Amino acid sequence: MKSNEATPHLHLEYKEPEWPERLRRLGTVLSTQEEARKLAECDAPEGTTVMAEEQTGGRGRMGRKWHSPAGKGIWMSIVLRPELPLAATPQLTLLAGVAVCTAIRRETGVEAGIKWPNDLLAGGRKICGILVESALREGGLHYAIAGIGISANLAVDDYPEELRSVATSLLIESGKQVDRTRLAEAVLAELEAWYRLYLREGFAPVREAWQSLSVTLGRRILCGTPENRGEGLAVGLDENGALLLQNEDGEIVSVLSGEIKII
Ligand code: BTN
Repeated sequence: MKSNEATPHLHLEYKEPEWPERLRRLGTVLSTQEEARKLAECDAPEGTTVMAEEQTGGRGRMGRKWHSPAGKGIWMSIVLRPELPLAATPQLTLLAGVAVCTAIRRETGVEAGIKWPNDLLAGGRKICGILVESALREGGLHYAIAGIGISANLAVDDYPEELRSVATSLLIESGKQVDRTRLAEAVLAELEAWYRLYLREGFAPVREAWQSLSVTLGRRILCGTPENRGEGLAVGLDENGALLLQNEDGEIVSVLSGEIKII
């Protein structure tokens, strides 16, 4: 057992992690979300993970495409089977952000930070996206698929023109090639440790770690739709994972879902 050096106060345990051994490597797929879903439907155990060399239909939040070129990134999806109310599933996104951010910092030295709810940024640009999708049964959560896309070894030329100002990679940030298998396994061990802590102790430790890794807090934020826009200073996460914004009148409002822009 070793303790988590990034957050020693949490006494995170990495007792014989099992999930790194449940990693399956695939070649070209449409989306690892679909591959993991097929395995989940066949009763694959929790922590079963598929990682693809390439995705031809990689997807992000809000119906967006996820750029997933061959041999350059960590495109993987993990089966989770928590006994949770459906309303708690956004916490899994925040938990995954903490785990991936911690593993990236420790394994690569890149100072990634979390933008609420699910992006990891480095130098202000996106380096990783997280997409948690839920499958329902009898109105409750049957299982969840946590999709993680880490831009590991993409060079500037590997991005289409329109992504170059908003996206970056571990290679661009550190100047070093990343061992993708090693980093994927480190992410899975970290995710498993955080997930077990969450099942034991609830959201509070995740919330504390999320706040310490955040690049959102202390910044002015735009949220909502053009028709119904809100603006405020990000001051924290509430006990459910909603982002707390302080508006011009000093009132605290909570944002449960959606996109934000740091201004
Ligand atoms: C986002 O930032 O919008 C979320 C991006 C999630 C991308 C990952 S890559 C592995 C998995 N398979 C997908 O099709 N999407 C997720």
